[in-house]
This record gives sequence, structure tokens and C-alpha cells, in this order.
Amino acid sequence: MLTNSKEMLEHARANRIALPAPDYIDLDSARTFVQVAEELRKPLLLSYPQVLDASFPLEEAAAIGRVLGERAAVPVALHLDHGMDVQFIERAIRLGFTSVMIDASNESFEENVKRTREVVKLAHSAGVTVEAEIGHVGQGENYIDLEDSETVYTTAAEAVAFAEQTEADCLAVSIGTVHGIYKNLEKPVLNFERLHELAENVKVPLVLHGGSGTGDENLSRCAAEGISKINIFTDFLTGAMERIRAYTPSDYMALKQAANQGMADILRYYYQIFSKR
Ligand code: 13P
Repeated sequence: MLTNSKEMLEHARANRIALPAPDYIDLDSARTFVQVAEELRKPLLLSYPQVLDASFPLEEAAAIGRVLGERAAVPVALHLDHGMDVQFIERAIRLGFTSVMIDASNESFEENVKRTREVVKLAHSAGVTVEAEIGHVGQGENYIDLEDSETVYTTAAEAVAFAEQTEADCLAVSIGTVHGIYKNLEKPVLNFERLHELAENVKVPLVLHGGSGTGDENLSRCAAEGISKINIFTDFLTGAMERIRAYTPSDYMALKQAANQGMADILRYYYQIFSKR
């Protein structure tokens, strides 16, 4: 069934687990993610990032997400990942997204608050959950060390003020991950002290972006120590390619099947890692 993400995130927070939020890129990946959630009887945050709009338009993504979500035997939130502008977010809500992220984390604190409040107002009047980002999770391509990347760690004081002023339902925070691949590093060193401060002081569920390549131990700890949702994208592409290489499919249908199975294995694995103590 299609639901918003509020209850599933609050349940995850109360139980000190994290839910995976996988980004889908087409019908196959979306269907695969829903099937895994059904098989494991877990809720799913089926996520579509605005950046894909040029190659996989919002209308198509919404139709796919809605049909799969409505038919699913488990709660599915259809989530807009990294919504960049209010108009796009408004369209997503009209098309049936039940959960949206407004990412104004590159703006000043005041501008971030202003844009987030605008989205909260329109989303809440439609029963839609809102995620916003405070601090900034940078891109892996630029990652050498944190001094050189555009990553900005979230402080507890600004996260508390931001949550109060915006009334967002959950907050993406920055504690040392980046989106994509970590060049020159096997895995990042996360600031768990900062995570503890955030988890103790912020009243809403916390979200971690840039889950790929972060390492199982880091991610299990994040889930157990205060993160309620972890976004994953790159690892699904890597998992699909590894499966294709291992199985050397002889025709296109077999290739698609191998890719789907590769993605399914990654999601199964992360559900387990994120609920392990
Ligand atoms: P990764 O590609 O690093 O998993 O990041 C995904 C993400 O944070 C999407 O919002």
C-alpha cells in the first residue's frame, strides 16, 4: 500500500534501526526494490531523484511508483529525493508522491529555512512527509579529504534550530559521507560523536545520504546510534554490473535479469545491515 513516510521513519527511530531508501532509475529497478521489500515484509522508501528528470521524466517515474506502491503488500512511501525547487516538488505531490525532500542545503541557513517552510506548508496540506537537509553532503568526485570537498558537517545547534523553524518531518545531516564513490579512500571516517549530539538533541528522525561505499560497520553503527533512513544509489549500479560480469549473460533478457538480481541482493543485504546490532 502507498503511504507517506512519517510513521515508518518514526517507527525506525523508536526501534533504533534504519530503513534503506534506494533510488530507482527505471521500471525494473523499482519493481525489484518493491519485490525485495515484500519478500522481507519490510516498509520501503522508493526514491526518485529529481536529477534523473531529463532521462526518466517525473511523470513516468510517478506512474511507475504509484502503481507498484498501491499494489504492494507492504507500506511503500513514494519519495522524491533531492527535490531542488518548489515547482518541481509541487508537481511531484500532484502526481502522487507521498514524501518529498527539499534540498536547499547549498543556500544560507535563512534561505534554506525559507524554502523548506514553503515546501512544508504545501506538502503537509496534502498529507505528504518532508525531508530537508542541513549541513551539506558533497559529491564523491570532489572527494580527496573533507577539507577539500564541499562537505559541511551539520552542527547540533543549527539542526535543532532548523528543525524547530521549518517543522520538517526528518532531517538529512552531514557526518562524513559523500554521494558516490570515495576516491583515494577505502571507506570514510564518520563523526559518531556528532551523530550522538544530533540524535540526542534533534526531535525528528535523521537521514544519512551517500550510503554507498561507507562500509558495513559504519552503516550498522549509524542505524543503531541515531540514523533512521539511509539513502543508497551507486552500490545498486555496482551490484548490477558485478552480477552481469559474473554471469556473462548471452542475451538481453538474461542481462536484465542479472542486473535485477544484482540490485535485489544489495537491497536484501542493506536491510539486514541496517537492522543489525
Ligand atoms: P550514494 O550514491 O553514495 O549511495 O548516495 C545516494 C544518495 O544519497 C541519494 O540521495
